[in-house]
Amino acid sequence: MDKIRVIGGRRLEGSVEISGAKNAALPAMAASLLTTDILYLENIPYVRDILTCRKLLQQIGIDAEVRENGTAELRAAEIRSHEAPYELVKTMRAAILVLGPMLARWKKARVSLPGGCAIGARPVNLHIMGLERMGARCDVVHGYIEASAEGLHGSYILMDTVTVTGTENLMMAATLAEGETILDNAACEPEISDLAGLLRSMGARIDGDGTRTIRIEGVKELHGCRHRIIPDRIEAGTFAVAAAITRGDVKVCNCDPQHLAAVLAQLGQTGAEIVMEPDSFRVRGSEPILSRNVTTQPYPAFPTDMQAQYMALMTQGDGTSVITETIFENRFMHALEMIRMGADITIDGRQAIIKGGKPLTGARVLASDLRASASLVLAALVAQGETWIDRVYHLDRGYYHIEEKLARLGANIERIV
Ligand code: EPZ
Repeated sequence: MDKIRVIGGRRLEGSVEISGAKNAALPAMAASLLTTDILYLENIPYVRDILTCRKLLQQIGIDAEVRENGTAELRAAEIRSHEAPYELVKTMRAAILVLGPMLARWKKARVSLPGGCAIGARPVNLHIMGLERMGARCDVVHGYIEASAEGLHGSYILMDTVTVTGTENLMMAATLAEGETILDNAACEPEISDLAGLLRSMGARIDGDGTRTIRIEGVKELHGCRHRIIPDRIEAGTFAVAAAITRGDVKVCNCDPQHLAAVLAQLGQTGAEIVMEPDSFRVRGSEPILSRNVTTQPYPAFPTDMQAQYMALMTQGDGTSVITETIFENRFMHALEMIRMGADITIDGRQAIIKGGKPLTGARVLASDLRASASLVLAALVAQGETWIDRVYHLDRGYYHIEEKLARLGANIERIV
């Protein structure tokens, strides 16, 4: 199993290109189930979750071509299976995104329940509730959601918790439902607007995406189109923290700084100098790094997917900071590994209290999930000596060759296969 080896202490300098957004590409690929035409996608990140999604779609019977140059062609002319099997869903929870489109177009779906993961229970009750309000019958049998519907109809759906993939699943289902659907308390992450833009290019009638209330007027059928996936704001945020934590000077290119405005504002409060341009931003790290509290919340607030990376930065802060995680109930696994590197962190329920200013020392550490693994790489960049990170398959799920990108910025990092 691959490992990553880092020798800390280098200041990062230069510029880095950001890849397409994993969390926008996955629903876009699922949307191919909504039409018999070809979907041409560009700027797809060639990361493990995308390859798992391709495998899932191919198993369903879709012609799915995904290339390392970021282009993809997907065509669901016919399907030979309505099923998303446990073996694939357990490795990538986003496989739940085939449920809505499959039901809307093919009238039935059998999708394994994702179950919990390292960061939380992660139920999908709101996905099911919304589809049932559109007239579907959903039973959970033997660990699978068995869903069927003669035809979906529009409905008013209020989600009591903001859910990203829940909003995406219901929005896709509603595009082919009879009549109007209102999604209330909807997620408004940039990935939602990117998906709505793709669906409109396919002929869907959607407005209000990017706000808490999305309105979808169902149509008889959708057609193919060409669509470019937005840049990955979480990858961009990860490199912003890499610059700040190494007191470096990095230009992050091919991204939309507005999509991570809350992250850049928070880094500004810690003393880093941020210069934003239309499709790039520059971060110059400061000395000292100021300790500042943060609370994760749905977009446009500070994202939970940047919490672990920010914690690594706060281990180098000039005082005490408190991180409050409001989205997932168990998203502090990385803290235990940072403590092994010498950090002073106390976990109290949904809060982590970080006493900064303690030098980190290199150690063998274990990645528990995608963003936790990125945070351990960041901590290792400033740790004295050598750090070995195990289970980097977590990292490969959502980052494209991150160690090569960091090495080009001057980091002493390599992958050991
Ligand atoms: C998406 O997951 C992202 N994944 C996650 O990114 C991200 O952490 C999360 O949104 C929050 O921003 C993808 O887009 C593929 P949620 P999702 O449904 O949609 C509760 C990464 O690192 N909830 O918005 O699965 C849930 O338990 C990943 O790239 C219900 O109660 O997250 C959680 O507390 C990790 N019932 C909250 O809502 C439901 O039916 C938000 O979860 C659905 C969700």
